[in-house]
Amino acid sequence: MPASGLTPWVTIDHAALRQNLERVRQAAPNSAIWAVIKADAYGHGMERVAATLRDVDGFAVARLDEALRLRADNITKPILILEGVHTADELRVASEAQLQIVLHHASQLEIFSVVDLATPISVWLKLDTGMHRLGFSADEFEPIRLQLQQIPGVGEIAMMTHLANADDRSDPATEEQLALFNKIATGSGGLLSSANSAGLLGFPASHHDWVRPGIMLYGASPFSGTTGLQQGLKPVMTLRSSLISVKQLQKGDRIGYSGTYTCPETMPIGVVGIGYGDGYPRHAKAGTPVLVNGQRLPLIGRVSMDMITVDLRQQPHAQVGDSVILWGDGLPAEQIAELSNTIAYQLFCGITNRVRRVDLALDGVGL
Ligand SMILES: Cc1ncc(COP(=O)(O)O)c(C=O)c1O
Repeated sequence: MPASGLTPWVTIDHAALRQNLERVRQAAPNSAIWAVIKADAYGHGMERVAATLRDVDGFAVARLDEALRLRADNITKPILILEGVHTADELRVASEAQLQIVLHHASQLEIFSVVDLATPISVWLKLDTGMHRLGFSADEFEPIRLQLQQIPGVGEIAMMTHLANADDRSDPATEEQLALFNKIATGSGGLLSSANSAGLLGFPASHHDWVRPGIMLYGASPFSGTTGLQQGLKPVMTLRSSLISVKQLQKGDRIGYSGTYTCPETMPIGVVGIGYGDGYPRHAKAGTPVLVNGQRLPLIGRVSMDMITVDLRQQPHAQVGDSVILWGDGLPAEQIAELSNTIAYQLFCGITNRVRRVDLALDGVGL
């Protein structure tokens, strides 16, 4: 269903999104769900994704402006700002918009002393259990929590941490992080949250009161070396384009910038209208699969800004206009990511705004 011409487009499958949410519920039936929709819902379109996931218990974003976009879109559910707020103005705005904030640094505590909040704000106090990015150390945690309890502008205090290595189920670090979290945070009376998608699927002990799935909602696996399909998930984003040129090259002809591919024989090649200017990874290796008319064919030569080339020997009758899928339906993004030395998260977030977006509603029809 190309919207027009042969330019690239993505489809966002909202029925798959719903199905992946069911998978979250099935894996963590006793936890409330923060659907993580930061970074424009990992490139899937935040407002539309929020509309489809409206049954979740709340939405988690990274920054205040993302949370305010949701409120402006009439989302009334709880919204959590994972990086919290950094100035008195931001704190006031967050409180007025009834947002919940993560508090991970002493500087965020200080700003409470310069604002009088009309409505107390719910705070998720972050313990650093081993990620060593945001959060208070085990020693700092309890004194900060006691200080917070004294501040009139602070409403409920909940506790959270973030898992660093749960994508590798054999790494003992996750159990160690969870043990520390349980030791420090359990018993303090507040709600607890630690699970990202990998924790949710791989470590039931991480489920606590609230889980925070991101990548699994979009259908990709959080575990390296596996695909979302193997975890009972369905890809939500499919990146599509078309053949814009087909030609016959001679043995010895070199293809593209730097001529990194030399034709071993007379052969047909196809040029696909997609490149790194659209978000296709420039470092995709030769041999990375591309679905042409539903068949996996290898990428050859360098990825350029607007084009890639594919070996058409297995499909000599392919023509200009034929359909191409770069990842998604029938071609897991995780595989493309691995062959490009990156992760599916980055592929999804990297789709640029010149790629047309078509939302497929729950019945599969364009929204
Ligand atoms: C604090 C926090 N929780 C949860 C998530 C969701 O992680 P994932 O997409 O791996 O499920 C993220 C994403 O980076 C995060 O930063």
